Amino acid sequence: MSANDEVLLDEFARIIANSTRLAVSTGAGISKESGIPTFRDAMDGLWARYDPEELATPSAFQRNPKLVWDWYTYRRELINAAQPNAAHYALVELENLLPQVVIITQNVDGFHDKVGNRNVIHLHGNIHRTKCADACKGEPTYIDLSQIEWNQDAGPPLCPYCKKAYARPDVVWFTEPLPSDALRQAYTVSRKADVMLVIGTSGLVQPAASLPFLAAEHGAKILEINPNPSTISNIATIRLEGGAAIILPKVVKRVRAYKKNSDE
Ligand code: APR
Repeated sequence: MSANDEVLLDEFARIIANSTRLAVSTGAGISKESGIPTFRDAMDGLWARYDPEELATPSAFQRNPKLVWDWYTYRRELINAAQPNAAHYALVELENLLPQVVIITQNVDGFHDKVGNRNVIHLHGNIHRTKCADACKGEPTYIDLSQIEWNQDAGPPLCPYCKKAYARPDVVWFTEPLPSDALRQAYTVSRKADVMLVIGTSGLVQPAASLPFLAAEHGAKILEINPNPSTISNIATIRLEGGAAIILPKVVKRVRAYKKNSDE
């Protein structure tokens, strides 16, 4: 790492160490080193010919429920076979080092909860949960798949309550509204943050992509970790180029040192 990188890393860590209301916005990039392809990575294997934006939509599910269901089953199995990485664990340590850390994630893999972060806002739902596509008992009508017998080669089961609509993953599809509570919390946290750390998102999908701008408008310093530029990069006070699993542990090590010195 060059001397300049060291200086940037130290300043990056100092800003975080001095934060009293840290918001962390995470995207698919933080799970990349867990082996979970990001959304805009080239789709691999049997899904290579599909564009996620063609699969993750209500109309795609209506047109071909089995195709969409099978894609989510494939992704859920990929996630279940994977483990959180050093970046996820670094955020747990950060939560223990600082007065307030709230994670606002676009990811549906549940890894932030799995490693023990306590304040996680899920903007796009959770791939491990299933619900009735018609919300027959209210939104969301959760379905416990372990209690259902069905021909799993035939695609999604019917909702066991209304027996009319299909079961679907509890994730937000394109053109769908985000969970209102989660979005309201995310706006509040972003407005109040003194620092927002943005990790592994291209900043292409609204409204998640607007949160760093909202935070900056309210005086927050914006920090970014991403190997590539994103729509957020232009408002970042510092952008560290590289993978989160490599960079974030280095940042947290320096935050720990800052906190130790300031506590002595
Ligand atoms: N560490 C950090 N960032 C990384 C890494 C890594 N190891 N590898 C890739 N990235 C970055 C990429 O440079 C890119 O900017 O992660 C980002 C991933 O961008 P997307 O694939 O667009 O994922 P994301 O921003 O989370 O997508 C947002 O779009 O498709 C919808 O709902 C879906 O939640 C998703 C949303």
